[in-house]
Amino acid sequence: MRNRNTNYISIKESRQILKHNIRQMKYYEALKRRKRNVEDYTTTMRDNNNVVEIDGLKTVFFTDNGTVMSVNGVSFDIPKNKVVGVVGESGCGKSVTSLSIMQLVQAPQGQVVEGQIRFNTDDLGTDEQGRKLAYDIVQMPTSEMYKIRGKDITMIFQEPMTSLNPVFTIGNQMDEVLFVHMPDITAEDAKAHSIEMLEKVGIAMPERVYNSYPHELSGGMRQRVMIAMALSGNPKLIIADEPTTALDVTIQAQILELLKELQKSQGCSIMLITHDLGVIAEMADEVVVMYAGRVIEKGTASDIFHNPLHPYTIGLQKSKPLITSPSDQPLFSIPGQVPNPINLPDCCYFKNRCNRCTEKCNGKYPETVKVSDTHYVACYLYDQEEKHNG
Ligand SMILES: Nc1ncnc2c1ncn2[C@@H]1O[C@H](COP(=O)(O)OP(=O)(O)OP(=O)(O)O)[C@@H](O)[C@H]1O
Ligand code: SF4
Ligand SMILES: [Mg+2]
Repeated sequence: MRNRNTNYISIKESRQILKHNIRQMKYYEALKRRKRNVEDYTTTMRDNNNVVEIDGLKTVFFTDNGTVMSVNGVSFDIPKNKVVGVVGESGCGKSVTSLSIMQLVQAPQGQVVEGQIRFNTDDLGTDEQGRKLAYDIVQMPTSEMYKIRGKDITMIFQEPMTSLNPVFTIGNQMDEVLFVHMPDITAEDAKAHSIEMLEKVGIAMPERVYNSYPHELSGGMRQRVMIAMALSGNPKLIIADEPTTALDVTIQAQILELLKELQKSQGCSIMLITHDLGVIAEMADEVVVMYAGRVIEKGTASDIFHNPLHPYTIGLQKSKPLITSPSDQPLFSIPGQVPNPINLPDCCYFKNRCNRCTEKCNGKYPETVKVSDTHYVACYLYDQEEKHNG
């Protein structure tokens, strides 16, 4: 719709964008309001060992400048009992992917327009062929989503102060989570459970913290409280979006260690979003590398760290500061910029920054190829390998 050769939008174009946005937002909001039967939002998992399978997810924002393709056909799995690290530079769609899983994309501007997010639940039983039924979160009505959000799937954000309500005590807020998901629980049992969770996350005086207000705690303590809250419903998946970025380095290490420990003991999965490769190396079993709303490479932590294939992943590794890096040399940075998510090119999005570009790279966006059983990459350098849908 928008003139690709200029950065300016004429009044006419602006009106066209506005009209288009209103039409699209109305359409997607009406879709959400329609009456759905349970079979409309149930499906089956491709692999029962996964807790979440994201398939071809597209999430867009209808803005005054045009449609922002924030998540543009993302596919990856989160296996049970594993930490999946999602890495990529600012604006590549990491948070929007996680918000799509939680059905928390800012509507009506933000809408999931395509794809499936399959969630492995024990609530639905099996179909006629005996296959276990799963939720398709994209199609789920909000009223149903309330049942799993905050209980089976929980989220830990970057800045705990913005997630905790300053006018209620920690105890009030922790008990509230239990009252919502376990309506029969008594106030005493809720308190006992909350205090037990605070103890579990390494808080020395849980009773005192239970009665404190968020501002009375340090940043590290608040993040521990958030972890306790996230774990209190015994979730299958915790989404941690930059959980330690707001903390200093020593506390960061403690929190990450705690998360990993609890993930193992509680037997849940974590989707760990960060732009810090060091955190990923420390924590993740599997890694998804995103660039401009797409997954450009995914594999086990060993695949990504010992055998990175995509020129962007290789660049990311090179730009990581090491203790052994010579102090008189500048850190490596990938030249150029991410393409505008409103006007994405019809070829590899990394092309204008890539130093290994070949004739083939002038073609369409490269398909994802399977390089090994665990390792996938979207780059023409590897297009002799088996094609894969995501
Ligand atoms: N509410 C919104 N309205 C319009 N555009 C949005 C909105 N939220 C996100 N976007 C756009 O979606 C794209 C992806 O954003 P997202 O927040 O997922 O990035 P990110 O990978 O989490 O980045 P960061 O590392 O900075 O957190 C960006 O281009 C961003 O500008
Ligand atoms: S497809 Fe081509 S331009 Fe894109 S990352 Fe691979 S080599 Fe570089
Ligand atoms: Mg983010």
